Amino acid sequence: MLSELTVLEIIECGPRTRLGAGSGLFFLRINAPGWEKSAPGQFVMLRASIDQAEYLCARPFSICRLTDDYLGIFFQARGRATRDFAALKAGDRVCVWGPLGNFLPLDARVPTLILAGGIGIAPFVNYVDKHPDPEKITLEFGHRLPLGCYPFAELRPGCRASAHLEKNGRDREAFSALVKARIREFASSGIVLACGPTPFLRLVREFALKYKAETWLSLETRMACGIGACLGCAVKALLPPDVFIPSPAALAGPLQPEDTERFVQTCICGPNFRADRVLL
Ligand SMILES: Cc1cc2nc3c(=O)[nH]c(=O)nc-3n(C[C@H](O)[C@H](O)[C@H](O)COP(=O)(O)OP(=O)(O)OC[C@H]3O[C@@H](n4cnc5c(N)ncnc54)[C@H](O)[C@@H]3O)c2cc1C
Ligand code: FES
Repeated sequence: MLSELTVLEIIECGPRTRLGAGSGLFFLRINAPGWEKSAPGQFVMLRASIDQAEYLCARPFSICRLTDDYLGIFFQARGRATRDFAALKAGDRVCVWGPLGNFLPLDARVPTLILAGGIGIAPFVNYVDKHPDPEKITLEFGHRLPLGCYPFAELRPGCRASAHLEKNGRDREAFSALVKARIREFASSGIVLACGPTPFLRLVREFALKYKAETWLSLETRMACGIGACLGCAVKALLPPDVFIPSPAALAGPLQPEDTERFVQTCICGPNFRADRVLL
C-alpha cells in the first residue's frame, strides 16, 4: 500500500562528540499508515518526497516500531537518500509503501535467540513489541558506537537483552565467541534470528549450520524497487528443483539434499531467509 504520510519527529540518536559531530544514526517517527495487517520482520520503502519523479530515491527500511500512533524507522545516514532523510523535519510529507516482505517466525512457546549487530537491531524492537511472551526472548546486541545511539533502551521490558560494545578486535572476538556459544545453546530447543552487517550474518550462518540450529537471517540487500520489478536485490538460495517461481513458502522448509542453487529476489522471497537456504 502506497501512503503519503507526515513526519512527526526526527532525532539524531546518541551523544555528540566534543567537536560536535553526531552519530549519523536517526530515529524517524511518521504518522501511522493504518495498515490492516503487518508482522515483525517486514520492511517499507521510504521516499523523502511525495514527488513521483523521485521514484528511484526510495530506500528499504525495517519497521522498527509500529504503534497505533506512529511508524518508527531507525536508520543510518550513509549516502544520497539517507542523507535526504536525515534532513527531514516535522511536518514534511514522505512516501511510504508497505508493509513488504515475509515475516520472522514468532511462536510464544519457542525460546528465541536474537542476534543483532549495529543497525540490525531495528527489526527486533518491533519483534519484541509484538511477541506474546517476551520472556522467551534472549537478545545479544553487538555495537560499535555508544549504546545510546541505538534503540536498545526502547526494547520492551521482559526480554533478556544484553549489549556488547565492540571497541577493538578483542571485543569482536569475544562477541563472536558468545554468538557461537549462544547458537549452540539454542540449537536443540529454540530458534535463532539475526540481522546485521553481512560479515556478521556469515558468522551466524556458519555456526547455525555447524550446530544445526533453525536460524533465520534478515538481509539488508540493496534494493531499488522493493516490489520485484528490477532484479536489483538478487541473492543465491537453495530451492526445491520443482519450484518454478520462487516464493517465501518455497524457501520456508528445511533444506533437502536435492535442492539446487538459484537466484531469488530478496524483496519478494525475503528479507528473512533460513540460514541453510541462503548463500551469503
Ligand atoms: C529489508 C531491508 C531493511 C533495511 N533496514 C534498514 C534499517 O532499518 N536501517 C538502516 O539504516 N538501513 C536499513 N537497510 C539498508 C538501507 O536500505 C540502506 O542503508 C540505504 O538504502 C542506503 O541508501 P543511500 O542512498 O543513503 O546510500 P547509497 O548512496 O546508495 O550508498 C552509500 C553507501 O552505503 C552503502 N550501502 C548502501 N546500501 C547498503 C546496504 N543495503 N547494505 C550495506 N551497505 C549499503 C553503499 O555501498 C555505499 O558505500 C535495510 C535494507 C533492506 C533491504
Ligand atoms: S528490489 Fe527490485 S526486484 Fe527486489
